[in-house]
Amino acid sequence: MASSAAGVVVIVGSGLIGRSWGMLFASGGFKVKLYDIEQQQITNALENIREEMKLLEQSGSLKGSLSAEEQLSLISGCSSIQEAVEGAMHIQECVPENLELKKKIFAQLDRAVDDTVVLSSSTSCLLPSQLFSGLVHVKQCIVAHPVNPPYCVPLVELVPHPETSPATVDRTHTLMRTIGQSPVRVLKEVDGFALNRLQYAVISEAWRLVEEGIVSPTDLDLVMSDGLGMRYAFIGPLETMHLNAEGMLSYCDRYREGMKRVLKTFGPVPEFSGATVEKVNQAMCVKVPDDPQHLAARRKWRDECLMSLARLKSQMQSQ
Ligand code: NAI
Repeated sequence: MASSAAGVVVIVGSGLIGRSWGMLFASGGFKVKLYDIEQQQITNALENIREEMKLLEQSGSLKGSLSAEEQLSLISGCSSIQEAVEGAMHIQECVPENLELKKKIFAQLDRAVDDTVVLSSSTSCLLPSQLFSGLVHVKQCIVAHPVNPPYCVPLVELVPHPETSPATVDRTHTLMRTIGQSPVRVLKEVDGFALNRLQYAVISEAWRLVEEGIVSPTDLDLVMSDGLGMRYAFIGPLETMHLNAEGMLSYCDRYREGMKRVLKTFGPVPEFSGATVEKVNQAMCVKVPDDPQHLAARRKWRDECLMSLARLKSQMQSQ
């Protein structure tokens, strides 16, 4: 684990994702400065992180080797961006998903930093070439896209700008590993990166199957949660192919024609509107009514499941 002397990490934007990043960096022993345009957001973030960490410690799920109090002592709020970035080794931007706002923040950071810090964006959808082109410190810029909730789901997609230096990618990769996350390198920028492209491919076929009356919305979700998803928590689709025959070559020999035949029957991109939305929404609301209380309770349950799964995964890996 890194010690706090290892460096200062700055979080710009202390909302949902900024708070999670703050907790993760503190779990790795880094000193964390939380900045936000709204002072109240910083206050809320510090309170919320304290509560979360105490609960995680009580349930034995706190990450890292430091106690909750030790980790909390590493996190502070900062109401000046100039002051926050002084001496920082890594800046993680977490402001709302708005290109103009993010460009403004990166232009501001570009003027304030030296040649050593990494400037990283949490964006889900914006491309590095949209965010970083023209910045003096473009070599130090990268997208590090987490998955919600980042404290429970370790994947981070690292997406460089065409001018990002390999050293920036390597440093960010190492940093993510140090805080217990699981970084992947997206070698060339592409709309949706890798995770959302896969997710949208699944959503798209799920929608078509429901739209065409082939399976009910509830059963569709079971196909994933009690079927494909059971495997995918441990092995990806490519390893699944490898294991479902006598290796990948044998899988392709056996199944390529069948896969191609089925894939050719896939329909066009769904509209995600009209009668199908009504139908899917109705089914989802029977399971989880869409008022804030029910949604929050179900999210809490989901996060507890994810934490248990993370424990199981690390137990299985160490066997
Ligand atoms: P949020 O709305 O919870 O938090 C955004 C924070 O940024 C707020 O505290 C707001 O006061 C602050 N802010 C607004 N303007 C600012 C400025 N000029 N300077 C400093 N702070 C400012 O948003 P959330 O959900 O945390 O998302 C942040 C980023 O993370 C977005 O780019 C989003 O796409 C990305 N992301 C979100 C995920 C999610 O599921 N929520 C998952 C992965 C990435």
